[in-house]
Amino acid sequence: MSEQPPLEGLWTPVRTADGSFTLAHPVHGEACHSRAGAWEESRLRYARACRLAERARGERVLRVLDIGTGLGLNLAAALESVRGTSCRLEVLTLELERGVIEAALQLLERERAALEAELAREWSEALALLAAALRDPAGRAQGASVALRLMLGDARKTLPSAPEETFDAVFLDAFSPGVEPELWSAAFLREVARGMAPGSLLSTYSASTAVRAGLRAAGLRVGQGGRVGTKASGTLASPDLALEPFPPRLERRIDRRAEELRGEF
Ligand SMILES: C[S@@+](CC[C@H](N)C(=O)[O-])C[C@H]1O[C@@H](n2cnc3c(N)ncnc32)[C@H](O)[C@@H]1O
Repeated sequence: MSEQPPLEGLWTPVRTADGSFTLAHPVHGEACHSRAGAWEESRLRYARACRLAERARGERVLRVLDIGTGLGLNLAAALESVRGTSCRLEVLTLELERGVIEAALQLLERERAALEAELAREWSEALALLAAALRDPAGRAQGASVALRLMLGDARKTLPSAPEETFDAVFLDAFSPGVEPELWSAAFLREVARGMAPGSLLSTYSASTAVRAGLRAAGLRVGQGGRVGTKASGTLASPDLALEPFPPRLERRIDRRAEELRGEF
C-alpha cells in the first residue's frame, strides 16, 4: 500500500488496504500493522479475539493490558467494543517511544478527512486520551467510559513496576520477533502471564512456535487465533479458558519447546 513522507521521529505513514493508516518504524521499517488493513486487524485480532464487546455486556469493568501502544488503534478498537454498554475500561498501555504517539497525532490531523467516519471518531478519542496521558506527569487520562494509564519506557521494566495490576484482556502487539525479540522472550511472557486474571484472554498476531511455547511455558493454555486479513492464524492464551487446539503435530512441537523453556527457567 502507499507510503508517504515521514512524520515525527521519522515514522512513515502507510495507507493500508481497508483505508486506515499505520506507521513504519524509522529504523527497521516494519509497519505497526498488517498492510491488508490496520483498523481491521485492531478490531478482529485484538478487541474481538479478546471478546471485549461480548464481555462488556455482563461486566462493570474490564481491565486491558495494551502492549505496544503505537498509533493507539488497538486502544480505539477496545473503546469501540464497550460503546453503548455500562462497562468501563481500565487500560494500562505500554510504549517505548513517545515519538510514535506524536507521529500518530500528526497523522490523524493530516488525514482525518480521508478516514471513514467511525474510524475517525474512535481513533480521535483514543488519541485524545493518549495526548492527555502524555501531558499528565503520572501518565493518566480519563474518558467517559475509560481510565487510561500510559507507561513510557521498555515494557520489560514498566510492567513489573505495576505489580498490583491484573488484567481481563491482553493485546500483545510488539514488532515481530525477527526485528525486535525483546517482548517475545520467555521471561517477559511469564511476567505478562502473572498479571492475567481468571477468565482472561491474550491475543497476538504472532503464530511463531517459540512464542506459543513461551506462553505455554508461562503456565497459560494456548490455542489458535483466527484468520485476519492475509494472516492465516494468530495465537490466543488464557490461564483457564478452553481455546481452539492446534493440529496434533504442532501441539506436540509446542509442548516439546515449552518443556525446554521450562528447563531453562
Ligand atoms: C506493532 S506496533 C503496535 C501497534 C499498536 N498496538 C497500535 O494499535 O497502533 C509495536 C509498538 O511496540 C513499541 N515497542 C517496541 N519495543 C517496545 C518495548 N521494549 N517496550 C514497549 N513498547 C515497545 C513500538 O515502539 C511500537 O509502537
